[in-house]
Amino acid sequence: MAGQFDKQAETYLQARPTYPGEWYSMLAARTSHHSLAWDVGTGNGQAALGVAEHYEQVIATDISEAQLSFAMPHPRVRYVHTPESMSEDEMVALMGGENRVDLITVAIAVHWFDLPKFYKLAKRLLRKPGGILAVWTYNNMIVSPEFNTISKRLHEKSLPFWHANTKYAFDGYRSLPFPFESVGLGHEGEPLQLDIPKELLFEGYLKFLKSSSGFASAKEQGVDLLSEEVIKELESSWGGPNKVRTVTYKAFMLAGTVTE
Ligand SMILES: C[S@@+](CC[C@H](N)C(=O)[O-])C[C@H]1O[C@@H](n2cnc3c(N)ncnc32)[C@H](O)[C@@H]1O
Repeated sequence: MAGQFDKQAETYLQARPTYPGEWYSMLAARTSHHSLAWDVGTGNGQAALGVAEHYEQVIATDISEAQLSFAMPHPRVRYVHTPESMSEDEMVALMGGENRVDLITVAIAVHWFDLPKFYKLAKRLLRKPGGILAVWTYNNMIVSPEFNTISKRLHEKSLPFWHANTKYAFDGYRSLPFPFESVGLGHEGEPLQLDIPKELLFEGYLKFLKSSSGFASAKEQGVDLLSEEVIKELESSWGGPNKVRTVTYKAFMLAGTVTE
């Protein structure tokens, strides 16, 4: 799965939302300690910075060096490149040993992982009792009924270019295996639904599309989903280039703990 986010790494930083501060407060309120957190698939640190408000140290890892090269610095966040070749024991050593991690966050990334392998590692690393794994994704941006009719059509055209793993994100993590005990913030088969509000210009929306793996892979295969005509139609429905819209990303979270 390496490379899905390399080419659009800079656009990714400009276009992607960070997450509401209350999310981190509600997660931090449920972990027994607040010394170490691990943000996996950190990208540019979109979640790592929020986690750092509540934990003494955050280790933020990604398989993409390109994504990490645009990561947002923070005194309590240590960014580490973890190539796919790293062994489970090497990952445990990086975290300072088993049973030490209070919170593991995976923001819009767990559907790219080898799930059995990742869950086994997460169970070794989480503090027992009291450590929590939280994964979330967003899969749709609500702008206005008219705009969303056009963007839905575009999304349907893009479907052949998305990797099979994105099916979990498209169904709002309803079918994502999640073998952890519920902490009241979504559980296997029933994710917690959340909203992410963001103020956006049309340019930001376009960058958001371009930063997604489906649109990037269509472009790589020589298919221009975003022709001038399509962009014009979207921009006009948006309200023009200078119109700031408050949009809502529809998000889905699963959080859980291990007892033994
Ligand atoms: C959609 S981005 C999410 C970035 C960020 N967490 C956010 O909230 O915007 C997915 C990230 O997962 C990373 N990734 C994919 N597979 C990975 C793996 N096996 N281990 C670590 N990171 C991985 C990608 O390189 C990419 O940066």
